[in-house]
Amino acid sequence: MRADFLDSELKEIKDAGLYRQLRLVGGDQGPTLLLGGREVINFSSNNYLGLANHPALAAAAKAAIDRFGCGSGASRLISGNMTLHEELEAKLAKFKNTEAALVFNSGFQANIGLLSTLTGKGDAILSDALNHASIIDGCRLSKAQTSVYAHCDLDALEAGLKQAASARRRLIVTETIFSMDGDQAPLREIVELAEKYEALVMVDEAHGTGVFGANGAGVVAELGLASRVLVQMGTLGKALGGFGAYVAGSRALCDLLINRCRSFVFTTALPPAVMAMALAAIDLVESEPQRRDALRGNCQKLKHGLSQLGFELGKSESPILPLLVGDAARCMALSAALLDRGVFAQGIRPPTVPAGTSRLRITSMATHSDVQIERALKVFEEVKRQWPPTTTS
Ligand SMILES: Cc1ncc(COP(=O)(O)O)c(C=O)c1O
Repeated sequence: MRADFLDSELKEIKDAGLYRQLRLVGGDQGPTLLLGGREVINFSSNNYLGLANHPALAAAAKAAIDRFGCGSGASRLISGNMTLHEELEAKLAKFKNTEAALVFNSGFQANIGLLSTLTGKGDAILSDALNHASIIDGCRLSKAQTSVYAHCDLDALEAGLKQAASARRRLIVTETIFSMDGDQAPLREIVELAEKYEALVMVDEAHGTGVFGANGAGVVAELGLASRVLVQMGTLGKALGGFGAYVAGSRALCDLLINRCRSFVFTTALPPAVMAMALAAIDLVESEPQRRDALRGNCQKLKHGLSQLGFELGKSESPILPLLVGDAARCMALSAALLDRGVFAQGIRPPTVPAGTSRLRITSMATHSDVQIERALKVFEEVKRQWPPTTTS
């Protein structure tokens, strides 16, 4: 069989202006990046606290390799369940104020596994319209009836809950901080609706973990809702600077996942060095609140500077600042113009965001210096002359 479809599908993507290519980062992950051999200021990372190249994480990983070796050799249920996996899970449960926690190999795997374990035929999932692709795919895989409610719209959610009255189980799933918009879900109200209509709540704290809450445990912790949501999932690869993901909740939740969750059961356990990095990262997140303060300060400076320049910004309540452009080609051209001048702010197009809502996703880091932020704002000012801010089409 000929594989001509590869070229024709690629052509289709190119013709639609949606072709994507990998960029090569030469050095480590810091506030500046070596991109294609050139140093640029990095506003395109989820390394919000600057832990991805922190010496404490590197030292912990090296020590773990010396003591426990490199690989885990098998899945958790065979012979891959090592000391550091359980140590991390105990620490995560304490950090998240839950009875138990379970480590997953990635956030994507956690979401598809969670949704397909917790719901099935005869159940209803109520999912925010802007939830991440991994949640969307988890809904598909679950075979539950999925009702997508308008973004953060409590009336739409309530209507969906009423419609799902006869379902065996009702599960509301939402990100706490939305990955491409940076806004926050009305979580307290969502939990109240869930209680009113006897629904369960699953939250994705991929972008809340490390950044929100007095100890950095996330939005659920900040709002004191840990005992009222069924599942808190989050990632270890964003603010925590490493790799992997976690689920925090009751012991029964974790035990069911160990027994039934295919993306947990049928995969090789994460290596010890990855667990050690996460352990070191949680220590830093808890003991250095000044990182969160610096992050918040940098977000404010950037947001203020960009709105002074007249750019249209989304309603962000986090380090994720969407600069709205609209048209995909225009968005990518704006991103390229900034990159030419040494500022990396990735353009985000469909299918990551809905058609007509392409934007630059500009993310702050705790480790950006004032000089870097000022330099970036100068560059934005320069490109603004070429790209007037009445950009939404
Ligand atoms: C909201 C959200 N959930 C889940 C994921 C997946 O996490 P991971 O990168 O660990 O697979 C991401 C990002 O990648 C995300 O932004």
